[in-house]
Amino acid sequence: MASFAPPKADIATAEKWYEASTTVDGPFRDLLENYSHVPTDDVVKHVVDTRNRAWAVHPYPCLGQFRFLELNLSQRGDLYNRLLKELKTQPGSRFLDIGCCLGQDIRKLVYDGAPASSVAGAELNGAFIDLGYDLFRDRDSTAGQMVIVSANILESPTGPSSPLHSLVGQFSAVQLGMLLHLFTWEEQITAFENTLVLLRGQPGDRIFGQATGHLDGTPTASVGSRATFKHNAESFARLVAAAQEATGTRWRIVTAELDNGLSVFDGKRTWDDPRTRRLVFEIERE
Ligand SMILES: C[S@@+](CC[C@H](N)C(=O)[O-])C[C@H]1O[C@@H](n2cnc3c(N)ncnc32)[C@H](O)[C@@H]1O
Repeated sequence: MASFAPPKADIATAEKWYEASTTVDGPFRDLLENYSHVPTDDVVKHVVDTRNRAWAVHPYPCLGQFRFLELNLSQRGDLYNRLLKELKTQPGSRFLDIGCCLGQDIRKLVYDGAPASSVAGAELNGAFIDLGYDLFRDRDSTAGQMVIVSANILESPTGPSSPLHSLVGQFSAVQLGMLLHLFTWEEQITAFENTLVLLRGQPGDRIFGQATGHLDGTPTASVGSRATFKHNAESFARLVAAAQEATGTRWRIVTAELDNGLSVFDGKRTWDDPRTRRLVFEIERE
């Protein structure tokens, strides 16, 4: 494992979940070598250097622990295969990754054959969007011509000045990847309402993702003093019911499961407790 100097000021902030280096193997290495054309011997240094710059923007555990290397969307088996097939073969299909950070999942879809025009990203922090272009070296390439906007999903996309305005009604599938647990219950409803506006509004529209979950389905004061909500399957079903009520739409829960995936308690994050799990979900409009 190569080792590079981490940014010292940020280690002091969140050193528990800062890993100085990593290996880069499998599909992520393939992506960097064959989509981004990073020379084999430069891959690890390129990843660590870019990650360190991203860490300086905001010390998310997914950056500190190199979790973005896991390409979570592509690990969802049948869901990923169906999505990819739709994007490749159905002209009306389009995918939006909200809270996309470095944008690894949309690059993976394009590398696997989805047209760049069929995928898009939205990310609160524009610095992460820029770092994503640096990481994947596709700012000026044909493959990299996907739309990625700096936007807050808690703000309405319908206002004429919204960066999401031109994307209203465009998508058949939306991912909320490691995002919901950053929001309170009320904010999660708002995020659902705004996501709905970005979807086509047809039966079969899908929202999926993962989030830090909790065996008890409970609010926790994990982000400052705000009581952000971490779900179990039951509380997620209540959220969907409340979102249905708020929007007058009907949704079927395809998947809402807790597992021991990447958010499981490892004692390294300040908000971890032994009942922390990962929530994996998919809902479909009826
Ligand atoms: C924990 S990271 C997950 C990144 C990526 N989806 C993944 O799974 O690797 C959460 C991301 O959501 C973004 N984010 C946070 N609040 C947001 C908001 N209100 N609207 C859009 N993006 C947001 C953060 O800037 C960050 O990049």
